[in-house]
Amino acid sequence: MKMTNENVWEHFYKKNESFSLGFSYYIFGIFGKEVDEDKIWKDGERIISLLHPKKNDKILDACCGSFGRITIPAAKRNLRVTSVDISPTAIKLLKNRLERFKLSKKCILRKADVKKLPFSNNYFDKVFLLNTPHFQDLDKIIKEISRVTKKNGLLFINFKNSESFANYFYKNPFFQRILVGKIKMYFYPLDELKRNFTKYGLQIVDAYSVFSPFPFYMNLPLTLKQRIMKRAHGLYTNAHTWDLLIKKL
Ligand SMILES: C[S@@+](CC[C@H](N)C(=O)[O-])C[C@H]1O[C@@H](n2cnc3c(N)ncnc32)[C@H](O)[C@@H]1O
Repeated sequence: MKMTNENVWEHFYKKNESFSLGFSYYIFGIFGKEVDEDKIWKDGERIISLLHPKKNDKILDACCGSFGRITIPAAKRNLRVTSVDISPTAIKLLKNRLERFKLSKKCILRKADVKKLPFSNNYFDKVFLLNTPHFQDLDKIIKEISRVTKKNGLLFINFKNSESFANYFYKNPFFQRILVGKIKMYFYPLDELKRNFTKYGLQIVDAYSVFSPFPFYMNLPLTLKQRIMKRAHGLYTNAHTWDLLIKKL
């Protein structure tokens, strides 16, 4: 089967769900280790809190994945969450998880492409897009995600940082081939991201270093990570991903 950005995810989910979470979990999957769902949801809960959602805010978890990093804690908090993913298997697995906690009615689940979302302009108050833009056309994603966000709405998006030391490993063609077949992965310098945000009326408000390939680092509190990684320009030049809090102007 020829791998494309559209079907590679379906392939991962069918082979082993944990592969969809990235390299460290890929290793877990190979050795048959279970993913710690509670940890993923705890991360999600902390990320949600950064955007201070109000009770009636409409929330989008774009490219939600099957573990529902944002969806599950948002639904548990009684927030109005809509979750989309391109993989039908991811949607099905997330539906099962929501059912497990009797949360199905708290979330609208849809199969959709983040580059062509089935929502009207200025629809969502808060938008989350995590661990996915590395596989996509930046311009199309930013344009679409900005379109569906309300004026003064907040977004939390992360991108692979082209300056990060850890990413020299990910950029290596040998590892890329093992991890994602022939799919291209994208790594961004902050300047390029800023240019794209400005083009579509978005502004970086703050940056966090939430994600990391190193498990010990993942467990630190966000505030501590923020202090450790703070560098020039008030942002994080060495972080593995740019984990950005963004505002729609
Ligand atoms: C690495 S997983 C991240 C899942 C989740 N956001 C998280 O942080 O745990 C990437 C997810 O994005 C989905 N995805 C990839 N390309 C997509 C697209 N163009 N539109 C919608 N979903 C997409 C995949 O199916 C997969 O579930």
